[in-house]
Amino acid sequence: MTGRFISLEGIEGAGKTTQTRLLADWLGQQGHAVLITQEPGGTRLGQSLRQLLLHQNLSQRTELLLYAADRATHVQEVLKPALQQQQIVLCDRYTDSTVAYQGYGRGLDLTLIDQVNAIATEGLTPDLTLWLDVPVTVGLARAQGRGVLDQMERESLAFHERVRRGYQHLADRYPERLVRIAGEPPPEQVFKQICGVIAARWAHASECR
Ligand code: TMP
Repeated sequence: MTGRFISLEGIEGAGKTTQTRLLADWLGQQGHAVLITQEPGGTRLGQSLRQLLLHQNLSQRTELLLYAADRATHVQEVLKPALQQQQIVLCDRYTDSTVAYQGYGRGLDLTLIDQVNAIATEGLTPDLTLWLDVPVTVGLARAQGRGVLDQMERESLAFHERVRRGYQHLADRYPERLVRIAGEPPPEQVFKQICGVIAARWAHASECR
């Protein structure tokens, strides 16, 4: 299994970071070259944009365009080169986050968001998206346990419910690409689900222990 693009998605506290690390270790043990990256913040410019996006009070349209700027740079400087080098790219958030947060969460026009995403990605779509789904109260409690909350984490329960519904709509819209993983069980059980999905898709990935 070489040159694959896997994105991980979900609301705050869904467990993406833990599962990304487990997945990277597992694929690495099978001899694959794995790159872990993230949005926002997967490039040098992206790191600056991440600080602005997570800690400044921005207008909704400014926020949308800065996420797009982060993505355009990331696609060009990191994602496309890594895929061309046959790496397996594990990307913590990608276009679905913009649809879920700026579209369903903030209420910006979904067609406009698709257009902005199309400009930013130049058509680069994940081969597989793992949506780690947890109830909002569970996710936010985990996020609060990590310490100081960022702009999004401070949003209302209703906002995060809309974001979660956004992911459900995306799963309905892209059933081949976007797979729901129940994110509430302990991390090792969540990881087993992920291994199962990957082994079923790419036969030469071995089963998870
Ligand atoms: P995280 O790195 O902890 O997941 O935080 C990133 C935050 O950025 C998270 O609250 C979701 C938000 N976000 C958007 O609102 N739109 C986007 O397009 C992306 C990539 C992230």
